[in-house]
Amino acid sequence: MKGVILAGGTGTRLYPLTRLVNKHLLPVGRYPMVCYGIERLRQAGVTDILMVIGKQSAGLYADFFGSGENYGVKLNFRIQESAGGIAEALELAEGFITPGEKFVVLLGDNLFLDDLTPYVEKFKQQQGGARVLLKPVDDPRRYGVPVFDPKQPALISYIEEKPKHPKSRYSVTGIYMYDYTVFSLIQGITRSARGELEITDVNNRYAEQGKLEYDILKLWWGDAGTPESLREAEIYMRGVLP
Ligand code: DAU
Repeated sequence: MKGVILAGGTGTRLYPLTRLVNKHLLPVGRYPMVCYGIERLRQAGVTDILMVIGKQSAGLYADFFGSGENYGVKLNFRIQESAGGIAEALELAEGFITPGEKFVVLLGDNLFLDDLTPYVEKFKQQQGGARVLLKPVDDPRRYGVPVFDPKQPALISYIEEKPKHPKSRYSVTGIYMYDYTVFSLIQGITRSARGELEITDVNNRYAEQGKLEYDILKLWWGDAGTPESLREAEIYMRGVLP
């Protein structure tokens, strides 16, 4: 199975540092943040990886990773011209992913301790559709929050993006698995109030069709999008890479 890491966007919550360097290259321990996602994919046997990056710092990615050989993976790059949303970045993976293929997507600022292997294996067995990974959190209002289907507890019936009154205690993490139909579903969504193509709208299309399954991460997970969460990630990710 192939992998896609989305590392576009502007990283405004980490200004002014991210005016100098792209968020996903900021240090977490001795490594740029995005190295941890690459390692999680490699560990799960996903070694053919597309990274969607912005124009900012594009040369630094090539300088640091080269072909990916030193990290045990094969890296491909595509540029997202402007920060038009996670689903817009994902759309750029069409072509790298070919018809009929299933694949794994990571948001580049998501850091976590679970090995993805069992979840990827389950998705290989799943009859198409999509699979997302969830994590219970103290304040779900910052995230996409799933609502479960009472009649079919293995399915998510819909996801609310950053709800004021969350209906569950889970966040939908930035770890997603899709079949190829994701690209036609992206064609069917429109820009949100903040002008972005939202990944939650794409996931809700799968949910409407009864095709959105999930697993729950067992170990620590966080997104390193704010100064506080970046510091927390630094502590938890210590020792994950040599
Ligand atoms: O971290 C999990 C959360 O990520 C989910 O719970 C939400 O449902 C999902 O919408 C997303 O929320 P955020 O508001 O945290 O997303 P953010 O705009 O910070 O973008 C997260 C990553 O997605 C970022 O590190 C890089 C990638 N991205 C984002 C945008 C807006 C792109 O590659 N291109 C983009 O245009």
